[in-house]
Amino acid sequence: MLNTANVTPYGTLPPASPVAARKPVSLPRLKELRERGEKITMLTAYDATFAAVADAAGVECILVGDSLGMVCQGLPSTVGVTLETMRYHTESVARGIRRVQGTAWVIGDLPFGSYQESKEQALRSATVLMQAGAHMVKLEGGGWTTETVRFLVERGIPVCAHLGLTPQTVHALGGYRVQGRGDSGLQLHQDALALQDAGASMLVLEMVPAALSAELTEALPRCHTIGIGAGSGTAGQVLVMHDMLGINLGKNPKFVRNFMSGQNSVQEAMSAYVRAVKDGIFPDNTLHAW
Ligand code: KIV
Repeated sequence: MLNTANVTPYGTLPPASPVAARKPVSLPRLKELRERGEKITMLTAYDATFAAVADAAGVECILVGDSLGMVCQGLPSTVGVTLETMRYHTESVARGIRRVQGTAWVIGDLPFGSYQESKEQALRSATVLMQAGAHMVKLEGGGWTTETVRFLVERGIPVCAHLGLTPQTVHALGGYRVQGRGDSGLQLHQDALALQDAGASMLVLEMVPAALSAELTEALPRCHTIGIGAGSGTAGQVLVMHDMLGINLGKNPKFVRNFMSGQNSVQEAMSAYVRAVKDGIFPDNTLHAW
């Protein structure tokens, strides 16, 4: 029931998740979910209202992804997103969740150019997003990022790594293609182990063969794998909100499912996503994976 005293014409947010047993999401809580075999759910959100709706739908982790460059700013890729833009959206999301006393874990994406120069630059950029309300920062790539991850983790910043298709390096990769096939899977495997050793507590695997990501999930007990186009064997799943609501009018990659279809509201669609991931119905390896 909405508290009508708080109803405003434009920005009334939904109440926090009605699930009484829900505790604030934290690293120990995510570990608990993983240990009991419950899938971790993640969606992107970029503003206060959608973040609050996702929280109310029971989504555990909200990624303020630099995909906002494409879905909010109309850029051709994520390369043009700035740290200031990420700060603004992270702050909006964190404010929305705080206003409804939500429980979601907020991840701020470090944009292209904000962490590549040095570990110190990464720390300065991560500080901006943490002070905007993020609980964790995400950065893309393996190998050279390992020492940056260690440096941030040692300084108290939880880090989510990102391997496979890393959109910030799309030009170097030659397009949005499946990564980690054949011999390159070995390199990806080594990079993932090194990131866990450096202290990364989460790892997004994007467009990676399902068999490889299932194998990595086994090999990474301290680093929760979150798949997007990586099959059903990961510890959790993430989708870009606009894709799963069916409002991306471009050609959707095959790992996307439109959860809005058959639902009456965005919150219902997000709840359907949470249920499908928890029940192991989404993703379906025969439809959404390689
Ligand atoms: O920026 C983003 O939304 C992401 C997801 C696609 C994982 O990195």
